[in-house]
Amino acid sequence: MSHDPSETVPVPALPGEAVLARWDGVEVLQVTGTSPAAAREAAAAVALRAMRDTPFHTPAYTAADTDPDTRVFVAREGGVAVGLAVLRARPRWGWWSWDDYDAERRPSTPVAPMTSWTVESIWTTADHHGKGLATRLLKVASDQVGQRIMSFGWRRPFTPSGEAFVRRHCPEGFWVPD
Ligand SMILES: CC(C)(COP(=O)(O)OP(=O)(O)OC[C@H]1O[C@@H](n2cnc3c(N)ncnc32)[C@H](O)[C@@H]1OP(=O)(O)O)[C@@H](O)C(=O)NCCC(=O)NCCS
Repeated sequence: MSHDPSETVPVPALPGEAVLARWDGVEVLQVTGTSPAAAREAAAAVALRAMRDTPFHTPAYTAADTDPDTRVFVAREGGVAVGLAVLRARPRWGWWSWDDYDAERRPSTPVAPMTSWTVESIWTTADHHGKGLATRLLKVASDQVGQRIMSFGWRRPFTPSGEAFVRRHCPEGFWVPD
């Protein structure tokens, strides 16, 4: 797989790193607030790179984030990042059915507030698009946090590819964090 060097973010192998899954040369690492500083800094560099492909002006993760409710999943291939998922446990504010979303109606608010794992960022490199990498990465994350993808919350605004991805995985609608 070729990579444009100006676009690549190195993710060095570190002693004691938490590799959760491996397939076809791709490894998924988990980084949390208790990971070594070098692992948190590498994950933060990936989050900065991912931010450039999204409407957001701040990265979904920084090395200073030691919140135990932040989980970062980095997909690495050949020593560089090829994917990222950042999840954070956040209160659910509303349920947005696609019917309401498409009709530009507001989300409905749930009876009782509940905490949900929320996808703050999902990103894969262009050379991996459309090959199922984001789906596999999120499945690893889903197994790790013990919540189904279908019931995750999602941070907006969506990009076109992000919205298509959420519609595919959450066909009824999605939880909106507060
Ligand atoms: C959104 C993104 C993470 C998807 O990554 P990916 O590795 O291509 O995703 P997958 O191959 O697992 O796609 C799963 C499903 O999502 C849908 N999908 C993903 N990208 C799509 C696109 N550009 N157009 C239409 N549908 C798309 C498809 O239904 C796809 O399933 P299928 O291939 O069986 O039809 C990737 O396009 C990306 O990094 N975009 C830039 C960053 C971004 O916009 N992040 C989301 C911010 S809201």
